Amino acid sequence: MKIGIIGGSGLTDFNELHVQQRLTPTTVWGEPSSPLIVGTFHTADTPSAFEKTEVVFIARHGEEHRIPPHKVNYRANIAALRDQQVSAIYAVNVVGGINMEMCPGDVVIPDQIIDYTWGREHTYSDGSDAPLEHVDFTNPYDNSLKDALLHQAISLSLPVHAGGVYGATQGPRLETAAEIARMERDGCDIVGMTGMPEAALARELNIPYASLALVVNMAAGLCDSEISMEQIQQIIDERMADIRRLLVAVANNMG
Ligand code: HPA
Repeated sequence: MKIGIIGGSGLTDFNELHVQQRLTPTTVWGEPSSPLIVGTFHTADTPSAFEKTEVVFIARHGEEHRIPPHKVNYRANIAALRDQQVSAIYAVNVVGGINMEMCPGDVVIPDQIIDYTWGREHTYSDGSDAPLEHVDFTNPYDNSLKDALLHQAISLSLPVHAGGVYGATQGPRLETAAEIARMERDGCDIVGMTGMPEAALARELNIPYASLALVVNMAAGLCDSEISMEQIQQIIDERMADIRRLLVAVANNMG
C-alpha cells in the first residue's frame, strides 16, 4: 500500500516520516512543486504498524513555501504521484471558515466543491496527446478516504466536521466581505485557494482523493476585525502537529 500526501501551508515537511528516498522527477506536465519524499511513518504510538504503508509526500507550495496557489503546477504534482503508483491521495488545505460552526482550529473533511478559480491549467484533457474525457465529478472526494479521516479524527478526539462545501478561490489575496457573503449564499462552508484544480486532476487520473482542511481564520467580513496573518500563523503553529498525527494514524491503519 502506497499513499500520497500533499502538504499545504504550514506542512512543508513531516517530522514523523522515516525517509527512504528523495526523488526529483519530471513529468510531461513539468516539474512538481517539490521533491517527492518517500518513506514510512513510525511513532511511539504505532510501532507495530511501522512500514505497513509507504508514503509519498509532496509540498504543494515548494520546500521554501514560495509557490503561490495560482502558480502551483497541480498537473505535475498529481502526475508525479500517479507515476509513483499511489493508490490514494490525502491533501491538506488551510481554509477560512464561512459556516459559523467551522471555527479556527477545527478540522473539516469537505464533501463538495465550488470552483471560483480561473486561468489555471486545470485538466489533462487539454487537446494535446490525451483523448478528450469528461470525468464524473458529482462527488469530488472519495468516500472511503473521507471515512478513514473522520474515523481517525474522532479516535484522536480532534474537533472535526464531517462534510462541508469547499469554495476554491484564486488568491493569493484573501476575499472581500462581499465575495464571502456571495459564497455563503452559494452554500460554501469553507474557503481556500488550493482545492482546485487538484481534486479534479486526481479524478481525471482515477486516483481516490480526499482533503483535510484546517480552519485557520473566519473568512472576510465574518468577524468585527480584519483577518490577521499573525493569528493565522498562530493557529497553524498550534494545530499542524494534530494534522500530522491524524495523517500518521490514517496511514498506519490502512488495509
Ligand atoms: N480565504 C482563502 N483562503 C484561505 C483563507 C481565507 O480566508 N484562510 C486560509 N486560506
